[in-house]
Amino acid sequence: MADIAQLREQLLAEVAASAQPNEVLRGDALKNLYREIPTMPAEKRGEFGQQVNALKQEIEAAIEARQAVLTQVELAPIDVTAPFDVNAKRPSLLPAENGTLHPLTQEMECISNIFGRMGFVTEESREIDDQYHMFETLNFPKGHPARDDWDTFMTVETDKDGDPFIAPAHTSTMQNRILRKYAGNLKEGNAIAAIVPDRTFRNEDLDARHEHTFYQVEGVYVDKNVNAGMLVATLQKFLEEYYGRALEVSVNPFYFPFTEPSFEFALSCPFCEKKGCGICSQSGWIELLGCGMIHPNVLNAADIDPNEYTGFAFGCGVDRLIMMKHNIEDIRHLESGKLKFLRQF
Ligand code: FA5
Repeated sequence: MADIAQLREQLLAEVAASAQPNEVLRGDALKNLYREIPTMPAEKRGEFGQQVNALKQEIEAAIEARQAVLTQVELAPIDVTAPFDVNAKRPSLLPAENGTLHPLTQEMECISNIFGRMGFVTEESREIDDQYHMFETLNFPKGHPARDDWDTFMTVETDKDGDPFIAPAHTSTMQNRILRKYAGNLKEGNAIAAIVPDRTFRNEDLDARHEHTFYQVEGVYVDKNVNAGMLVATLQKFLEEYYGRALEVSVNPFYFPFTEPSFEFALSCPFCEKKGCGICSQSGWIELLGCGMIHPNVLNAADIDPNEYTGFAFGCGVDRLIMMKHNIEDIRHLESGKLKFLRQF
């Protein structure tokens, strides 16, 4: 016959120490006692049964009391007026160090400041957009093969034309909105000058230079008599300010449906001094941004007369800018959330 008194001590101690006291009832200890009852001699069975029932009730009451204590601890309000000794050692459960802004946030503030000094306002992009803004306003008609170069993630839900919504693959998705929002500047004799640093998404094969989620900064500048020389000078000035030194930049002709002519800017690879390495795919250069003179169809889509006004636009990979500023050898560190990496900034 089990020693009920000893078992009682043991179960009450378990309840008192448990964060889930209900579990104590689910254990085998009480169940075994109940199983013992029918095996007892008839004259002892009644008294033993009563003792087992009494024990069960006592444990249930203890569980209820323990649960009340646990709930109270969870819901205990924080007394913000309680005296606080700033010199006291911090409880070890609290973080013992201050956090910092993420390097991407720090650098986007820096980019925004530089362009701000050049007269550009900063706007935000969005994380879900429609195909009209991402493609149609940018001179990619439906079925245009270049749409495949901006392959990205799509929603199951569709818009009124039956097209899925998309996670923008570039910040150019904001060009039409920027042009419309600031068209009034042109009527007042001022330029449209805006940047959009924000998050973009692509269905991408990942490697040291390619992420599926990354950041771009879009730039849009429109006025009378804007030319490609102004575009190159603006970007070169920005890059020199950003890196704090003169740089070796390579500007090459390229194709984008929404700019004509179009160019690509590449920076000499800081990881191999142009000798060629795994990070720059042995080319010695890292492609940084696409740019060009805004296509007349893009201005028309925003009701701006391309015979009167011209402009330039650019889209620069922010992660790549940062990689080359801080010698980060793999872009994937930036979205990894690894503290060892983040503590360096
Ligand atoms: C564009 O996205 C164009 N919208 C840029 C543009 C804007 C051209 C305005 C003309 C006028 P592209 O796909 O080349 O272009 O991307 C621009 C930059 O984003 C690249 O140079 C690179 O720095 C960065 N980038 C592109 N894909 C990735 C990726 N998967 N991971 C990290 N950075 C990327």
